[in-house]
Amino acid sequence: MRTQVGIIGAGPAGLLLSHLLHLRGISSVVLEKRSRDYVERRVRAGVLEQGTVDTLVEAGVGERMLREGLPHHGIELRYGGAGHRIAFDKLVPGRSITVYGQQEVVKDLIAARLAAGGDVRFEVEDVELHALESQPYLTFGGERLDCDVIAGCDGFHGVSRPAVPEGVLSVFERDYPFAWLGILARVAPSSEELIYARTERGFALHSMRSPAVSRFYLQVPADARLDDWPDERIWEELRTRLETVPGFTLATGEIMERGITPMRGFVTEPMQYGRLYLAGDAAHIVPPTGAKGLNLAVADVRVLTEALAAYFGSGSTELLDGYSDACLKRVWRAQHFSWWMTTLLHTFEEDDPYARKLQLSYLDYVTSSEAAATTLAENYVGLPFEPGR
Ligand code: FAD
Ligand code: PHB
Repeated sequence: MRTQVGIIGAGPAGLLLSHLLHLRGISSVVLEKRSRDYVERRVRAGVLEQGTVDTLVEAGVGERMLREGLPHHGIELRYGGAGHRIAFDKLVPGRSITVYGQQEVVKDLIAARLAAGGDVRFEVEDVELHALESQPYLTFGGERLDCDVIAGCDGFHGVSRPAVPEGVLSVFERDYPFAWLGILARVAPSSEELIYARTERGFALHSMRSPAVSRFYLQVPADARLDDWPDERIWEELRTRLETVPGFTLATGEIMERGITPMRGFVTEPMQYGRLYLAGDAAHIVPPTGAKGLNLAVADVRVLTEALAAYFGSGSTELLDGYSDACLKRVWRAQHFSWWMTTLLHTFEEDDPYARKLQLSYLDYVTSSEAAATTLAENYVGLPFEPGR
């Protein structure tokens, strides 16, 4: 079997890459180790930047997102007994975010690939990468797939990055001393916009998925276990951290899904080796406070598509050679923004009263200075994508 681009992983990065390549007349095969049902149900990110929305619409896979997604023109920062709106419509006119679950994006992309006769294989076992420096191929479940190029879109725990010989990649990382407990609940959102709440007991986030489904996160210790968090404790803690402004009450409901996500920043440089190109979480992850993970994956894939289109069109390797450099600028901006949002809003055990005063002072600055609020808004809605550069 042979294809132009062998793609490992049917997350947002792998599926979108396969779809964008198809639009350019480039063939690909996607190999995914989980079932279709599993990847379509996996609850993760929810905030799509303007550039991500535009990308999906331009690629013809944005129809349901435009119908069912929730456009948001601001977020609330809540601390010290008050809420403060960061108004995208005023600070970065014309740019906003759309709240639409990652698994809905994945469903739309799988449907589009299959409708176009795309080759997406689920429950594929033991994917291995070979001959990355010359004539690459993949093996899986007793089969062999020869490729011109391999795209490693298999997330943080995938097999692509470890297939690069030792010593080639430099890794930059930061572990945070806490995690996020996330839940999806069958209850109408208690707020029209997302609430990022900083309290002395830790951070809480109120997000949503639809007029009937809400999503919440709580900062918890890094070693927290779901068993320690029965429903009543979760709601109690969310109430304590969110019901901090006059008149706000939190509506509760059935918890449909729950999980604990460690908080980490991680970047590998370069994001390529031989004929292997890493995209999305396979190359970098961010703490979710800035809502950047999925959006960075989309940005990588746009750059990679342009580079592959140039390569298969004219044989030029210039853009492919520059792939990593073209992506890393945005990756590091997102790393910094995610670190900054995380530091601004979470409690750190080692923080002394002086550090807490600094944090509150900075929050006051961000919520009172138009210049500072614009910095937050511009990064949150996402800097413009620059494909091919
Ligand atoms: P992934 O979505 O991870 O997709 C990789 C795919 O590769 C998966 O389908 C996986 O099954 C497959 N795969 C892995 N190994 C193999 C293999 N050996 N062979 C074949 N296939 C393989 N971001 C936010 O902004 N907000 C959030 O709340 C949030 N929550 C998250 C929770 C978790 C548990 C994780 C892991 C991430 C979360 N993120 C969140 C980040 C965001 O979801 C990711 O940045 C986004 O999924 C990146 O997309 P991707 O396609 O690069 O990787
Ligand atoms: C979500 O809705 O899942 C979400 C929203 C904002 C974030 C992270 C996750 O910063």
